[in-house]
Amino acid sequence: MDPKLEALFKPRSIAVVGASRKPGKIGFEILRNIIEYGFKGKVYPVNPKAKEILGLKAYPSLSAVPEDIDMVVVSVPAQYVLDVIDEAGKKNAKVAVVITSGFKEIGRADLEEELVRRARKWGIRVLGPNIFGMIYTPARLNASFGPTDVISGSVAFITQSGALGIALMGMTIVERIGVSAIISIGNKADIDDADLLEYLADDPNTKVILIYLEGVTDGKKFLKVAQKVTLKKPIIVVKAGRTEAGAKAVASHTGSLAGNVVIYSTLFRQTGILQARNVEEAFDWARAFSYLPEYKGGKLVLVTNGGGAGVLSTDTLSENGVKLEPPPKSLVDALKPKLPGFASLGNPIDVTGMISNEGFVDAIMEALNNPEVGAVMGIYCQTAVTDPMVIASMLVRKVKAMGGLPKPLVLTLIGGEECYWAVTKLNSAKIPTYPMPERAASTIAAVINYTRMREEVKRRLSELNEVSD
Ligand code: COA
Repeated sequence: MDPKLEALFKPRSIAVVGASRKPGKIGFEILRNIIEYGFKGKVYPVNPKAKEILGLKAYPSLSAVPEDIDMVVVSVPAQYVLDVIDEAGKKNAKVAVVITSGFKEIGRADLEEELVRRARKWGIRVLGPNIFGMIYTPARLNASFGPTDVISGSVAFITQSGALGIALMGMTIVERIGVSAIISIGNKADIDDADLLEYLADDPNTKVILIYLEGVTDGKKFLKVAQKVTLKKPIIVVKAGRTEAGAKAVASHTGSLAGNVVIYSTLFRQTGILQARNVEEAFDWARAFSYLPEYKGGKLVLVTNGGGAGVLSTDTLSENGVKLEPPPKSLVDALKPKLPGFASLGNPIDVTGMISNEGFVDAIMEALNNPEVGAVMGIYCQTAVTDPMVIASMLVRKVKAMGGLPKPLVLTLIGGEECYWAVTKLNSAKIPTYPMPERAASTIAAVINYTRMREEVKRRLSELNEVSD
């Protein structure tokens, strides 16, 4: 890994070139975010027309800054960017975060190549161009023009799309998904997904990495790195440009080649990368990986108070390659005396619509504590004889009393407003919960599939090693 990337995530000083005096302009908002999110290092606004911006002394040029600078955020029009890179080089900058658009994505590959050439001459790594910036919450660093109050957590999000990335930043706040990093990668002129994966693989603050990907420039490098990283933590990819029309849209968006969808999917699988069908699914999975302990084998048991929701979940699991086996006999024996005679004790275990709050929670806990069970999915349909908020509170209390979840548990709470609040409560307590059964089922399938794929990759790698020995 290039040690210079340390300066991207943990710079000691930042200069914002093009820091504007006017609220609402990109250069102003980035500076405001850096200050308001609580960055502890030195911050230097650079603007030839300003004396002071947001209470900080402004400098007319980078050369006027009295010290060396680790990170230079560039937010000036494209025609000035190359000069800024030369000045940054003289200040021993290690990384340039180039927000500016107007490069390869509009046919100016020449300008982009020159940007990289100049940066290399000075030993500067470039993030971008054509990006909204980056965030690393452990360093209280928000060098972006996205929302300010990003919630810290353990999901790292790398996005090739800027505006979508900003919008999803907002969504992580509403959905209470905590992030370690959000990195806008744009045209990937220099720093690419593989570089970031290498860094994040060893980042103790990141448990799962989510990538919105349009295309990769160096496929071999990406797959080689990704294969190593998936042995340590899950990588979830949403691949855009799955159709011919989508691929054309990709080309005009970031200038990337979308490539063949089947080839991508096969390579992802072989590398141990989880491919989500859409952004919602990717974030559903990322939330679960950030909350849950690892799946270590054993049966998946579904506990439901609604037959139909159980069937839908079974379908989704099957579509995702997870087959349900009969529940352990010891679990059936434990539950049978507590359930009505017409309860179905297969898998899903249908505890019936007449189950009480206590009965439903008790069945989930019984499954969770059974030694033959490796993962549990709880499916709750709102009924008049139960209260979703009571169920959520009981579950949160019991899981807390256990010292946290001993194995993966996902829940779906299907119903009205009370369910919405109960889902929020459970997610706040780090028990991944979804409003629809298919979302919960696809999530628990991803948790199981990650372990399986990782074991498969390990096996293949050790076979390769044996052959080459
Ligand atoms: N050094 C330092 N400051 C400079 C400068 C230089 N060489 N040249 C200009 N500035 C100052 C300007 O005076 C201005 O400050 P002011 O507002 O206080 O007058 C500020 O830097 C910005 O320059 P300006 O010419 O007003 O540019 P802009 O803010 O309209 O646009 C970009 C700059 C980078 C935002 C724009 O070119 C761009 O690329 N926008 C798209 C960004 C984007 O969407 N990226 C992808 C995200 S998804």
